[in-house]
Amino acid sequence: MIKDPQKVKVFITREIPGAGIELLKKEGFNVSVWPHDKPMSPDELIEEGKKANAILTLLTDVIDASFLNECRNLDLISQFAVGYDNINIPEATKLGIAIGYTPGAMSDATADTAFGLMIAASRKMFYLHKKIMKGEWTFFRPKADLGVELKNKTLGIFGLGRIGVQMALRCKGAYNMKVIYHNRKQNKDAEKLLGASLVGFDELLSQSDVLSVHCALNNETRGIFDQKAFSKMKPTSLFVNTARGGIHNERDLIDALKAGTIWGAGLDVTNPEPMDANNPLLSMPNVAILPHIGSQTEEARGEMSRLAAMNIIEFYKNNRMPNVVNPETLTMGKPGLNA
Ligand code: DGY
Repeated sequence: MIKDPQKVKVFITREIPGAGIELLKKEGFNVSVWPHDKPMSPDELIEEGKKANAILTLLTDVIDASFLNECRNLDLISQFAVGYDNINIPEATKLGIAIGYTPGAMSDATADTAFGLMIAASRKMFYLHKKIMKGEWTFFRPKADLGVELKNKTLGIFGLGRIGVQMALRCKGAYNMKVIYHNRKQNKDAEKLLGASLVGFDELLSQSDVLSVHCALNNETRGIFDQKAFSKMKPTSLFVNTARGGIHNERDLIDALKAGTIWGAGLDVTNPEPMDANNPLLSMPNVAILPHIGSQTEEARGEMSRLAAMNIIEFYKNNRMPNVVNPETLTMGKPGLNA
């Protein structure tokens, strides 16, 4: 044990499922949890962050350079998510603050969300559900609101990692879909498992019947699905994004759907979040939208809680972090020095 856990102040920015909190308390850490059911303001975050040695954050917390430089007691930040685009990683690394995250915990739940959105959009389910609620279920109409089927279609995965593989497995198993993908690095294991082939970005756009986004949001991927990208897709294609809203340009997506450049869309992520209730996407027939629920299951959130806690526990106990974004910080100085 590097430090007496009693002396380590762990601040959790929102109530999370209990598993992780219990683990931290059992180890003797001095744990406090923000009691309100809404994201903390930057000022509130800084005020609490200044007192903490470790902070367990959510994707709604803005961990920018000013926060990191104000909170000089921080040894580590343990993010309760697989994505960490809300955290300024270069600045944290420069300051020697280790960043943990929770990969793997939500792969099934998020793939289920992508798979569900794909089916919902392909059969206009959300739109037709709204019609019933408006009293517009009239009679059987042979040509009205026809959907499209998915059997034997081509699935294009943008970012074939853990979640993308799970989405592809579902699409292959249910619909015998052919899988193509675009990645920075070839994923040989996934190729073997799925019979998937790596293609260039333009080929992914032009060949996919369903294009599902599963990458991180960063400078390379921000806004990559824009007017130019949509114009290269099939007019019969479906765009699915369960990763981050910033990866597609929402205005361009609306235009592409209106113009019939692409056929439909399934989104679990929007830009901004929450989406405005009057957003035109919400009333389009071939669009299905959810309020960022990718990891919203008992199983996924419980495991995220456990993994986020284990990153903190292992850091102070053994000077390691099972899931770390910037491992170089673990050897930069003495972890636990600030406690
Ligand atoms: C993640 O883990 O990054 C999800 O988007 C939030 O649960």
